[in-house]
Amino acid sequence: MALPIVVVTRRIPQQAREILGAQADLVCWEQGCPVDRKWLLDHLPKADGLYCLLTDRIDREVLQAGARLRVISTMAVGYDHIDVGACTARGIPVGHTPGILTETTADLAFALLLSAARRIVEGVEYVRQGQWTTWSPDLLLGQDVYGATLGIVGFGRIGQAMARRAQGFQMDVLAVRSPHGVSGSPPSSVSPEAGTQLIAKPKLDRKASLEGTSQGESVRASFHEVDLHEALARADFVSLHVPLTSHTHHLIGEAEFRVMKPSSILINTARGGVVDPEALYHALVHGHIGGAALDVTDPEPIPVSHPLLTLPNCLVIPHLGSASVATRTRMACMAAENIVAGLRGDALPHCVNPEVYPV
Ligand code: DGY
Repeated sequence: MALPIVVVTRRIPQQAREILGAQADLVCWEQGCPVDRKWLLDHLPKADGLYCLLTDRIDREVLQAGARLRVISTMAVGYDHIDVGACTARGIPVGHTPGILTETTADLAFALLLSAARRIVEGVEYVRQGQWTTWSPDLLLGQDVYGATLGIVGFGRIGQAMARRAQGFQMDVLAVRSPHGVSGSPPSSVSPEAGTQLIAKPKLDRKASLEGTSQGESVRASFHEVDLHEALARADFVSLHVPLTSHTHHLIGEAEFRVMKPSSILINTARGGVVDPEALYHALVHGHIGGAALDVTDPEPIPVSHPLLTLPNCLVIPHLGSASVATRTRMACMAAENIVAGLRGDALPHCVNPEVYPV
């Protein structure tokens, strides 16, 4: 019997390829760049499954071309690039990769916080350009991280992982669980009293984390739950951890920057669209905030001519939140496991739209 066909929109790790290849014939866009739209539309009519990335726009045109599709899975936790409503209307389950990238992404967010606070990138450039001729007491002075106040906007898995890191630096954490009524992924365990919450601690065992376990024993982390306005007004650092939706698009814009402290540093590892880039540029140039460190941008990739890239107090890196070998490999395999389940007619292990399944 012929195997089902799965279209894969990028070169993916060998382990994930093997999981898919054992169950399906693969039609792969083998290049290191995003799939050509025409290539995708031309190959979809025969596809039973679609394995995609966050760089692919999965819209009605794609679904029309892929009339046979029984499952779609993205190698990402965020799925703002997929028209999930249209998939649900067609009864197509959509898979994603929650949990496994939580700690890796929080590591990167904290690295950005430290880098921006202590001006590490400027320091590297200073040395490379041969400017380091003597020690000087006022050279590249930054901000203390220990004991500072961190506002975490979106207190789902990654926001909580950020709070755990902040605890090690004796920071005060202000958690905005629901900015404008929208939160990140649900908290793992909630205590009703404000200021303290049981937060799932990851297993430190690397093997366990490679197997997809990000939940372990719980630790008590202290934080204060506040609204967005209070977090912005009080925080020395504001880190964004909300998904991009119609509610969170440009959640941080001109009005929000005006509330922030002039020394405040914004960290975005969520989605570029959560921040209004023009308002950010204006806020940085006019000193409404002290700096920004962005892993995600709007647009993405950010053009090299973009005004934000001219500012020394704006640090931009190319969407590296989950970019460790182990995590990206695990994400690729998890996305493949979703596809395999969907082809078998089983419920996806990590499904964005479980309402496609009859109760
Ligand atoms: C995701 O998975 O949504 C991240 O942004 C990519 O690491």
